[in-house]
Amino acid sequence: MTGFLPYGRQSITDEDVAAVVATLKSDFLTTGPAVTTFEESCKSAFNASNAISVSNATAGLHVAYLALGLGEGDILWTVPNTFLSTANAARLCGADVDFVDISSTTFNMCATALEEKLRSAKKLPKIVAPVHFAGQPCDMQRIWELSEEYGFYVVEDAAHAVGATYKGQPVGSGKYSHAAVFSFHPVKIITTAEGGVITTQSDDLAEKCRKLRSHGMYKSAELAEQHGPWYYEMDTLGLNYRMTDMQAALGTSQMSRLKENIDRRNAIASNYHKAMLEMPYGCQRMNPDATSSWHLFVITCANSTERRALYEHFHQNGVGVQVHYIPVHTQPYYQALGFKVGDFPMAEDYYSRCLSLPMFHAMSEDDQNRVIELLKNFNAENYQHSRTA
Ligand SMILES: Cc1ncc(COP(=O)(O)O)c(C=O)c1O
Repeated sequence: MTGFLPYGRQSITDEDVAAVVATLKSDFLTTGPAVTTFEESCKSAFNASNAISVSNATAGLHVAYLALGLGEGDILWTVPNTFLSTANAARLCGADVDFVDISSTTFNMCATALEEKLRSAKKLPKIVAPVHFAGQPCDMQRIWELSEEYGFYVVEDAAHAVGATYKGQPVGSGKYSHAAVFSFHPVKIITTAEGGVITTQSDDLAEKCRKLRSHGMYKSAELAEQHGPWYYEMDTLGLNYRMTDMQAALGTSQMSRLKENIDRRNAIASNYHKAMLEMPYGCQRMNPDATSSWHLFVITCANSTERRALYEHFHQNGVGVQVHYIPVHTQPYYQALGFKVGDFPMAEDYYSRCLSLPMFHAMSEDDQNRVIELLKNFNAENYQHSRTA
């Protein structure tokens, strides 16, 4: 029996280690020159005029929402098929949250459902936060057109989409949103251990984000002249959501392999797709205007019983498949706010049948063959069913 194969994991090279060690031996451990260098590399990778690093993407969403003025009395809409953070960060701002159901084929926000919900809404959202699920960009042009018609802000939850593109531009370049937020958690495309970045084309929004991630403090040459070089002021309640220089040094080193990582993930996805041609599982439909970063490779089973059996089959054989995501509105916290099971049927049906296969750039061909063989054996021995998505 070979070792346990997780669904995702980081890869750390000697160069990454050397970059972190060099920072440890430098004058800066907290936010210093390595953070500035990493933010420059994010600007370049995401073709963004501003990149504000943060301690993680949850912090990034919180800061981006606050910077756009989200607060009590406002509503943010997102999808149920996401990690808790997209919705929780709005609750932390004091805002209400509501959800837009997903498409049964792309597993992303359904733009038609968004349009219908906007048309009949008693109260319009201040922010809509589409999530590029699994690294596959949403229909951003349509969402942007709706934002212009209905007057809401768009914050892309791009936690999965580091290195994805939409209409020929990197996700994060901001043509169809006010801000995008990326995650550098170890299972993501590149890592800073914990970490995230906000990108925006708006200098004003960037300035607000910078202030909010660091206690709401600011300094200026004018203030220094007037009061002394130590002087700072605070006019907004902020947080300490800063990235450290150690994390940033790791990030810059990792970023140099972004294309390599995406190429490898594409090759893995393509092998999985080939294997799926012989098996009755559903796969995420690709957006023809986009390229995915392949954070996740998700299949859908015929029903929840089969998904449970397949999950157990993989785990009994040392393969750590996962389930993404339990619909956020079904969590006890959100149920206590009034959401019910049945409110968002597409996300609930998708959740009952989905399974994420191992997908990470350091995965070997043997690793992938092992996954495919297990899937084939399971399918041959246990179930005969038809393609469902
Ligand atoms: C869709 C999505 N949004 C936000 C986050 C939060 O990212 P972080 O762990 O960097 O706070 C995650 C984390 O997995 C995620 O998957």
